[in-house]
Amino acid sequence: MIDVVDVKKTYRDGQREVMALDGVTLHVPRGSVYGIVGESGAGKSTLIRCLNLLERPDAGSIRVDGVELQTLSPAGLRQARRKIGMIFQHFNLFSSRTVLGNVTFPLECAGVPGQEARRRAREMLGVVGLGEKAEVYPAQLSGGQKQRVGIARALVGEPSVLLSDEATSALDPVNTVAILDLLRSLSRQMGLTVVLITHEMAVVKAACDHVALLEQGRVVEEGPVLDLASRPGSRLAAQLFHRYGGTGAGAAPAGAGTLGLGARRRAAVVFVGAAAGEPLLTRIARRYDVDFNILEGGMERLGDTVLGRLVVEAVGEAPRLDQALTALQEAGCRVEVLDVA
Ligand SMILES: Nc1ncnc2c1ncn2[C@@H]1O[C@H](COP(=O)(O)OP(=O)(O)OP(=O)(O)O)[C@@H](O)[C@H]1O
Ligand SMILES: [Mg+2]
Repeated sequence: MIDVVDVKKTYRDGQREVMALDGVTLHVPRGSVYGIVGESGAGKSTLIRCLNLLERPDAGSIRVDGVELQTLSPAGLRQARRKIGMIFQHFNLFSSRTVLGNVTFPLECAGVPGQEARRRAREMLGVVGLGEKAEVYPAQLSGGQKQRVGIARALVGEPSVLLSDEATSALDPVNTVAILDLLRSLSRQMGLTVVLITHEMAVVKAACDHVALLEQGRVVEEGPVLDLASRPGSRLAAQLFHRYGGTGAGAAPAGAGTLGLGARRRAAVVFVGAAAGEPLLTRIARRYDVDFNILEGGMERLGDTVLGRLVVEAVGEAPRLDQALTALQEAGCRVEVLDVA
């Protein structure tokens, strides 16, 4: 849905030059909820503002739904931007307009007649759960409700992309979860592609199916969240799973697995959507006559999916070990052999 290729952006700050984006390339699949994480100053806001050309890159290309944005005329760009909604950390609502007036605003700008604009805005307010609040002013709303207005306003023109710059950062945990759930269900219902900037891994876990790590204006890691879980040495995985001691690519606890005779394999085993990891291991251990020592592991919830990740040491006869690991794979687990002895 979005292709960013080798995008660069330098700011001139007096005498100083700041390289905010240093050759960013990423691909956002249609219908995905794509998280961009990184420390303060990494270039996240600059990048997301490039996706609708609020910021013009110095070099590189940005295609949204097949359209190369930089080549568009001003009128073409206005047209393209209608397909790209945006929400903000501080909501950016008009305080002098009612909730309904905020949501009709982009339609008015697009020349939609008043009655039709109000009808569509009311419908969108229903979708975000604010049907009852159309006539009140933003000051009378909670933070979570204000952000729902922001979402309704961003989506009333039926865009195919929603950009979110820290949209939950100003919210308490309960509202954060509610807004993330709303974004995910809108993404599914409307086929909406969401690009979401955050500095919180909890947001990635709750909402994103893809994630990129930005560092000093560069993408240093990128991919589907479920893939990262079994990628050795992945820093994103280390942060997603840090309660369990990193990615499993580190050293095994001293003395672990040194008792058994025969061959050994240390492997990361990921069970997607199943809480049945241990019974499965037991069954396969019996069938192939091998032992699995669990070195570390835990369960994580990623969106709707429960992900179990274990680092196991398998001990037994070499051919049987490999058969057992293959059997785990055939049972639907992702298996990655970390080392062999
Ligand atoms: N208008 C500007 N003029 C000069 N420098 C800028 C401007 N906007 C951003 N920068 C610089 O570009 C770099 C990237 O900034 P950006 O706002 O994209 O970071 P960020 O990842 O969004 O950070 P944060 O998490 O704090 O919002 C920073 O070094 C910042 O100081
Ligand atoms: Mg920012």
